[in-house]
Amino acid sequence: MKKHIHGEKCVTFTLDGREVHAHDGETIWQVAQREGVEIPHLCYSPEPGYRADGNCRACMVEIEGERVLAASCIRKPAEGMKVNASNHRAETARKMVFDLLVSDQPARETSHDPISKFWSWADKMGIETGRFPEREKPGADRSHPAMAVNLDACIQCNLCVRACREVQVNDVIGMAGRGHNEKIVFDFDDPMGNSTCVACGECVQACPTGALMPSSLVNAENVRTEYPDKKVDSVCPYCGVGCQLTYNIKDDKLLYVDGKNGPANENRLCVKGRFGFDYVHNPQRITKPMIRKEGVPKIPHEFIDPMNPWTHFREATWDEALDKAAQGFLKIREQNGPKGLAGFGSAKCSNEEAYLFQKLVRTGFGTNNVDHCTRLCHASSVAALLEGVGSAAVSATFNEVKNSDVIIVIGSNPTENHPVAATFFKQAAKRGAKLIIMDPRGTAMKRHAWKLMQFKNGTDVAMLNAMLNVIVEENLYDKQYVQTYTEGFPAFAEHVKQFTPEEMEPICGIDADTLREVARTFARAENAIIFWGMGVSQHTHGTDNARCLIALSLITGQIGRPGTGLHPLRGQNNVQGASDAGLIPMFFPDYKSVEDPATRGAYEAKWGIQLDPKRGLTVVEIMDAIHADTIKGMYIMGENPAMSDPDLNHAREALAHLEHLVVQDIFLTETAVYADVVLPSSAWPEKDGTVTNTNRQVQMGRKALPLPGDAKEDWWITIELAKRMGLNWTYAHPRDVYPEMASMMPALDNISWERVERENAVTYPSDAPDKPGRDVVFDKGFPRPGGFGKLVAAKLTPPDETPDHDFPFILTTGRQLEHWHTGSMTRRATVLDAIEPTAIAAVSRGTIAKLGIRPGDMIRVSTRRGTVDLQSRQDDAVPDGVVFIPFAYVEAAANLLTNPALDPFGKIPEFKYCAAKVEAIPMREAAE
Ligand code: SF4
Ligand code: SF4
Ligand code: FES
Repeated sequence: MKKHIHGEKCVTFTLDGREVHAHDGETIWQVAQREGVEIPHLCYSPEPGYRADGNCRACMVEIEGERVLAASCIRKPAEGMKVNASNHRAETARKMVFDLLVSDQPARETSHDPISKFWSWADKMGIETGRFPEREKPGADRSHPAMAVNLDACIQCNLCVRACREVQVNDVIGMAGRGHNEKIVFDFDDPMGNSTCVACGECVQACPTGALMPSSLVNAENVRTEYPDKKVDSVCPYCGVGCQLTYNIKDDKLLYVDGKNGPANENRLCVKGRFGFDYVHNPQRITKPMIRKEGVPKIPHEFIDPMNPWTHFREATWDEALDKAAQGFLKIREQNGPKGLAGFGSAKCSNEEAYLFQKLVRTGFGTNNVDHCTRLCHASSVAALLEGVGSAAVSATFNEVKNSDVIIVIGSNPTENHPVAATFFKQAAKRGAKLIIMDPRGTAMKRHAWKLMQFKNGTDVAMLNAMLNVIVEENLYDKQYVQTYTEGFPAFAEHVKQFTPEEMEPICGIDADTLREVARTFARAENAIIFWGMGVSQHTHGTDNARCLIALSLITGQIGRPGTGLHPLRGQNNVQGASDAGLIPMFFPDYKSVEDPATRGAYEAKWGIQLDPKRGLTVVEIMDAIHADTIKGMYIMGENPAMSDPDLNHAREALAHLEHLVVQDIFLTETAVYADVVLPSSAWPEKDGTVTNTNRQVQMGRKALPLPGDAKEDWWITIELAKRMGLNWTYAHPRDVYPEMASMMPALDNISWERVERENAVTYPSDAPDKPGRDVVFDKGFPRPGGFGKLVAAKLTPPDETPDHDFPFILTTGRQLEHWHTGSMTRRATVLDAIEPTAIAAVSRGTIAKLGIRPGDMIRVSTRRGTVDLQSRQDDAVPDGVVFIPFAYVEAAANLLTNPALDPFGKIPEFKYCAAKVEAIPMREAAE
């Protein structure tokens, strides 16, 4: 009979003569591990997400009274059982297993990874060579740029299959053949590099023998030659998922990266986090401060060879460069007033750096003209969330899908943009949750979807209002929840009456029956959750799109409980934190209005200076203000508006027009081309600082590498500029900045720097210094007056520019799995560039046929703002009449084409929709 210890059911049994307890569900191996009894294991991984398979028999133990030995990794103890893990019989059996396996391995001297888990266990057991005849050995497969495949070391443990199919849910690796012919295969026994592998590297991390390894560790003979001399735990520098990782370093160079068990990623990484690290060592890094040469003009669209910037710049000392940078700002402030200045901070820098940057602009420049790339990704979501639920952050972590039975993913392509979050969505779908994908492009996740709703581009509000109509008209809304926790329902219900599924069907392209079925399923779900991406937010009606999603959650009461809620998947690694820290023109840190006199008074008291009482300009408005000669000088830290802004002709002309531009970055970006002063700064692994991911998890990034040349940490540079602008700043490290920042941000209550350093990640809000933060918020209403969530009606607004005779296509833009944003990092990462080296435009099979071209032929895409030539790629996920272009490629910059029209609330441009022309390029012209 099971006993209870501390209220928990447990089993008591004997292990090597000692009485031990197993918690409910624990295996013999897990209890032994906890009790300090070492049992070898090969096909079992104790890491999260790995199911025990019990196939290798390396972990055999004796159970008294049983005829055969048992695999301890899979066997659960029973009450009173007597287990012998360390007696002669068990140890002899395990040795025999290793003896057999070693016989099939390459010789120890030439083994692919002499320190693999396999060899470590073999060493412990004193087995160097096998006594049995070896099998025929397969050859090496070096077809993949990131991973070396040497199946002569494979023991068919199946871990890589589980890694691929069950953990990352990519379904590329399988086990084929029988008996002696059994082997792992990629797809249909393709070379790895030709398979559908997405290079997440989970298999490499799982493989216990070195049969699968990062290519960076082995030589041409496939023998490991590289070993780290240092390991540093940190966070991935790319997307908002915020995967924790470990940098493995040798001689101050990154050698390889392992996933770490962070709360968001549970050891998983995607191709960028695992293999996209060597941009930090790229020879194009800026290592000296530079000043523009006297008389060198700024010409829009000009290209400067990053390896030879001396055509336009001269080297300077730090003092000289900082003095020139600060004096330029002071002169403009004197001549034109504070409104003549502006700053773009970075969602790639730390919270402390974001805080310092906005503080410099507000107290040193004297203006609220400070913004960053959140304006270009989720500003409309933030506007709608602040209005509707009083908080801009997610209501539940994405990992909450484990508790959801219905999951909506709308306007988001997580397998490319948030790949590790996508693994949790796919796992939920495999477990039986209904995954509903709503997107004009059929995303890769459609394979896992219960419903794919491929609505017409730009008609989100029509589709969502139809669902809201069904829920209201069929009385499927949660009356009690609506009454207790929301306001505005009567007017809202009246508003959605007009949007019947039948009337919306021709507008959004989803049939009325499907709209009804999905609405009913969502409303009736036990726990339903909504995720959205920039397909929702990057529209002139982005705020209205988000309002509909908020209403969907509120009227059904699908919020505030485990497995429910609203989650805009944030883009950059620290876009949440940079916004929280006040890198926004209308808000101080923690979203406190700059126009509220009481709040401003508090900040004036804290910072000891009078502050600008008016909200500042946003990203696109700042570009307009430069053209209008209002803004004359800018400080840009780690952003690349010459690639990321809409209508790049306009943006680049603005940057070239500035009287004084200071750019702080790690590469000579397309923006730095127009700089008067270039300040060489730090890549993420070169500094300490906290970051906040999409889940509200504040995590610690740690300095792992020295700075190259004379480059400096971003926080140091901002402080030095502030001092030269007359501010008395004395911070010596980000840990000096954090307490001041946290003291102004109630969200960070109970989360000290020391706590984040100790725990690696703390979710906000946290109720006490020793209590974990809350994964789910809004369980008792909302941080709004009365605690009510606000229902806001959304009307149908067409996109700003619709297709016509001259521009009959719809252009939509976004990211690719391998390339991050403007490509300044990923295109300088060897593996990522090798996988995706070329600018492409994705079009449908129908478009390819209509243009009379073959996939891969060059095409020309034009809009009213510009033209780019790029390679066509046939993509069956793209509807006819639509062209998708990733915006990472400078040689075919998608944003030369995009429309700068803004959402009136979030001021976000309409990146996801404009009218375009797509043409074949005549062969002769393409070849030139
Ligand atoms: S490749 Fe590695 S992980 Fe995969 S089955 Fe072989 S030994 Fe196991
Ligand atoms: S999912 Fe995002 S955070 Fe995680 S490894 Fe990939 S890019 Fe990095
Ligand atoms: S580790 Fe238990 S059977 Fe392989």
